Amino acid sequence: MSSAMGVSEMADQAANRGKTMRALVQEGRGSADVLHLRDVPVPEVTEGRVLVRMRAASVNALDWHSTHGGLILEIAAKVMRSKDEPVRGVDLAGTVEAVGPGVTRFKPGDEVFGGSIATFAEYVRAREDRLLPKPPELPFEQAATLNVAGHTALQALRDHAKVQPGQRVLIHGAGGGVGTFAVQIAKALGAQVTAVTGPRNVDVVRSLGADLVIDDSKERVSRRPERYDAVIDIAATRSISELRRVLKPDGIFIQVGAAKHGGWIGIFGRIIALAVRKRMGQRVKFFVAKSGTSDLEFLLDLIAAGKLRPAIDRTYPLAEAREAVRYVGTGQARAKIVITAE
Ligand SMILES: NC(=O)c1ccc[n+]([C@@H]2O[C@H](COP(=O)([O-])OP(=O)(O)OC[C@H]3O[C@@H](n4cnc5c(N)ncnc54)[C@H](OP(=O)(O)O)[C@@H]3O)[C@@H](O)[C@H]2O)c1
Repeated sequence: MSSAMGVSEMADQAANRGKTMRALVQEGRGSADVLHLRDVPVPEVTEGRVLVRMRAASVNALDWHSTHGGLILEIAAKVMRSKDEPVRGVDLAGTVEAVGPGVTRFKPGDEVFGGSIATFAEYVRAREDRLLPKPPELPFEQAATLNVAGHTALQALRDHAKVQPGQRVLIHGAGGGVGTFAVQIAKALGAQVTAVTGPRNVDVVRSLGADLVIDDSKERVSRRPERYDAVIDIAATRSISELRRVLKPDGIFIQVGAAKHGGWIGIFGRIIALAVRKRMGQRVKFFVAKSGTSDLEFLLDLIAAGKLRPAIDRTYPLAEAREAVRYVGTGQARAKIVITAE
């Protein structure tokens, strides 16, 4: 325990010690059936950390992949020396319950949002520098969608594709969590946006402001005459060659999503293919989104300006969080899926 710990912080810690909470715990791998609601200890609040009472936590494809597991995921986790965390979830919005030593920006009762680990739980320990104050007018459910999906869409368009006003952008796989953010952010950056999605999501994607929406079950975008400055591939259901065909000669291809076929060989095969193409001089890029609070502030500004509205398909109470992860795994979710405390 740090000597800098104040009396009220010590009281907070003591109040939580020995308490338990409900959390969605992964026991094994394979399908959402390995996820169980269990009573586990409330995390202790350590240096620079904040204990947040979860009000909402959104589900990402990552949660499904982590649940499904597989040898390559296990090896990657070992190589990256990831802590073996059995509670799923990385997005969060909630109310500060207690603060650890050294925390200066938050106090109990503050409404916050951002990213952490083990967020499918009643209480979450989060780093102070991964959280922002939640604007009062932004519902917890919407705030909880911003961390992974918002960061990923923003970084793909602004930082990697470097989209400029007036450019033509294709969002391939526009109906999911990242896709619904990408359509709106591309519009906010001033682009002309074509969105490709499946039949279930045509209406929601159109409602988000795409200039042209293509139903992939009816028409192949690669057979159309339009050419794009940037292709953002979230679905990864068509070959890289097919999608590059719709690029302008100096256009850029950004890979966001993982291949949907061929298991982990399919996923890593596509990443290797991109690396080879890049070495051959093609403008292709795969990236892994980084979390931080400055991009969350950027997203909040877009929301305040009326240019971004987190789109939510369904919410599930924590007690049914397993079904939320299962639903995301079907690939049929429209926009974001959110878990709530109640
Ligand atoms: N590079 C990164 O840093 C990063 C970060 C976050 C996520 N991702 C990846 O981005 C992808 C989307 O993530 P998300 O959280 O937005 O997931 P999600 O909400 O489940 O969205 C699924 C996406 O995949 C498309 N899709 C098309 N056919 C599919 C099928 N048969 N099965 C499943 N999906 C299908 C959907 O397209 P339509 O609905 O438009 O048809 C939608 O764009 C995932 O592959 C995820 O691993 C990458």
